Amino acid sequence: MSMLRFSVLACSLLLPFTAVHAQDNLNVARYSTANELLYPASLDTWIQTGASIGGEYNDKPFDPQHPGTIGVVQMEPNAYHYFMEHKSYAEGTMFLLSFYQAEGKSDPQLPGFVQGALVSQEIHVLDKSRFSQGQGHGFFIFRTPQQETASEIPSPNPCVTCHMEHGKFNGTFAQFYPALRAKLGLGK
Ligand code: HEC
Repeated sequence: MSMLRFSVLACSLLLPFTAVHAQDNLNVARYSTANELLYPASLDTWIQTGASIGGEYNDKPFDPQHPGTIGVVQMEPNAYHYFMEHKSYAEGTMFLLSFYQAEGKSDPQLPGFVQGALVSQEIHVLDKSRFSQGQGHGFFIFRTPQQETASEIPSPNPCVTCHMEHGKFNGTFAQFYPALRAKLGLGK
């Protein structure tokens, strides 16, 4: 078999597993004609990558009696699988951060806190062509009760600044997401 035929064959065999190439956009984010991000469907199927407690963006010292909110980070499934295969983010990767009230009263009563009501949600989309102003990073806030669309937070904004400065991998806080940091060799 010639080398060319072999590589064509190899490519076609590989195709189902590598349907998305680095230069392609996952194309799962949906936008309105006014460029607002539509609230994604099926967020319950997104893959949890991290969780934190009392991580709101303010300078108040952490109070163990009133920890504030529990933050849950999830990743859109196509983006997650792409990352696990390539150790890099595909264009169009989406992350969700949901803040839940840290609920101290539970049945049965636990010594700690459980997830209470959903307070707000934030979405981070990586897309260089769409968010050139934000260095390829678009940030959105969906307040509860659920908004159907959200506008990109205009640049410059503190979201991009903090994420680019302190996020250890491409403007994301992969250092706090166990499966991602293990893949990237970021320790712990
Ligand atoms: C002072 C720093 C800081 C600022 C400002 C900030 N973030 Fe974050 N962000 C974080 C940290 C730290 C995490 C990790 C949270 C965790 O581990 O649960 C995070 C995680 C996220 C995630 C999960 C995916 C990722 O990129 O790691 C989203 C979505 C997010 N932030 C949205 C926003 C939005 C929207 C804004 C602006 C309104 C914003 N952030 C501003 C520090 C910041």
